[in-house]
Amino acid sequence: MVTFEAFAEECRAAIEQTLDRVLPRAPQCPPVVAESMRYSVMAGGKRLRPILVLAAADAVASARREDAALARARALPAACALELIHTYSLIHDDLPAMDDDDLRRGRPTLHTVVGEGQAILAGDGLQAEAFHLIVREPHTDDPILLARKLRVLDVVTRAAGPAGMVGGQAIDLQAAGKGAGAATTLDGPTLADMHARKTGALIRAAAATGAIMAGATEAQLAHLDRWASEVGLAFQIVDDVLDVEGASDALGKTSGKDAADGKPTFPALFGLETSKRMAADATTRAEAALADAGLRPSHLDAIAQWIVHRRS
Ligand code: IPE
Ligand code: IPE
Ligand code: MG
Ligand code: MG
Ligand code: MG
Repeated sequence: MVTFEAFAEECRAAIEQTLDRVLPRAPQCPPVVAESMRYSVMAGGKRLRPILVLAAADAVASARREDAALARARALPAACALELIHTYSLIHDDLPAMDDDDLRRGRPTLHTVVGEGQAILAGDGLQAEAFHLIVREPHTDDPILLARKLRVLDVVTRAAGPAGMVGGQAIDLQAAGKGAGAATTLDGPTLADMHARKTGALIRAAAATGAIMAGATEAQLAHLDRWASEVGLAFQIVDDVLDVEGASDALGKTSGKDAADGKPTFPALFGLETSKRMAADATTRAEAALADAGLRPSHLDAIAQWIVHRRS
């Protein structure tokens, strides 16, 4: 098995190239929409979700002794679709009506450059483009692949929607006293539920997407979903910890904002040390789930480690 660093680098190159290819250009759409979407998508970012899709496809195909490169190629469009949805969620998350941030991925946030209206539309456009991408690629008449794509659409639409990311963002805003409802302090289980929706849902969808495209069994999907739930929880706990401990230039976004805005976070409720331990405990539970899925060794273990030890 190649090192995770080499694997991730190869995935990142394929992801960047595909994102560049699939993003619409003028005159297909008005230049302002094309340029706004491209500004946020091509600004970098870790590409964690699409790499996770490809790692899950790779792991499942390898366990089935099938062609892992073919499995990754089949999963690549859906991997990029998840990055488009994630980027749309960041554009909207940064709007003045939500977190009101002016730095993202090391650049001024989109709405500070093109205005709020165009930023909202760029986010809407990215979401629609994401689903269109899964529908059209990979192009196939093979009923097995078509059924896998339909299942991926089911998983991803649910994760991005009101029961998933949108719902989590709504709980976040409400708890911080923005918009309808008074500010509230969430208890541990409610905070974990918010994290599971706003960040965990798309991470679970990423793992499922790669596994489905590679033909995972139902048992593998169930164990992998447990792995992804733990890893998704760890991801958002670490995001909250980095907001306290990280520096804006390393993060590419303004640190220290959660506390200033009265956001519901793990460090606010449990303190930094307990939060870090909770993230580490989640990855320990994740290891067991991955073993149950029969997907060890694979690059998925390294992804869990990356998530807890990252500095950005
Ligand atoms: C940040 O996600 C937003 C959250 C869901 C916490 P990432 O940390 O993956 O952001 P990028 O994609 O690397 O910019
Ligand atoms: C955002 O959570 C999650 C989504 C965009 C769905 P945060 O508000 O904590 O993300 P950052 O810290 O701004 O990246
Ligand atoms: Mg937010
Ligand atoms: Mg935010
Ligand atoms: Mg954050």
